[in-house]
Amino acid sequence: MRVLITGGAGFVGSHLAEALLDRGDEVFIIDNLSTGSIDNVVHLKQNPRFHYTIDSVSNEPVVAELVTAAEERARLPFPASGKGYTVVKSVSAKQRPRRPPKKT
Ligand SMILES: NC(=O)c1ccc[n+]([C@@H]2O[C@H](COP(=O)([O-])OP(=O)(O)OC[C@H]3O[C@@H](n4cnc5c(N)ncnc54)[C@H](O)[C@@H]3O)[C@@H](O)[C@H]2O)c1
Repeated sequence: MRVLITGGAGFVGSHLAEALLDRGDEVFIIDNLSTGSIDNVVHLKQNPRFHYTIDSVSNEPVVAELVTAAEERARLPFPASGKGYTVVKSVSAKQRPRRPPKKT
């Protein structure tokens, strides 16, 4: 499977990238390094199935290009496989929507 992880150089994203590479997936990450660090994925850079882009997910042309490139790659070797492309989102806790307060 080809997986795009946003925030892939963060705590959760980098561990997810490692786990997916271990099971044989091709992993693309995009991260602006605002709270993450390239140190979190430096050990993955030598893996030919690991691809990283340092940029923000708010940069729509970059994200669109990344997704399109990956989709094209997915189709080339497996034209009839129907294998999909999974986007996994990992954002920092600060960006997550807050839960509404519990009603008493
Ligand atoms: N060593 C540890 O135990 C440790 C270390 C770090 C975090 N944590 C915990 O893990 C949790 C948070 O982990 P996480 O992985 O959700 O957060 P994170 O901040 O580690 O990961 C979020 C990633 O998203 C990236 N990002 C943010 N905005 C972006 C944007 N616009 N475009 C692209 N990338 C963007 C950040 O640079 C970061 O790499 C917290 O509970 C924290 O306390 C634990």
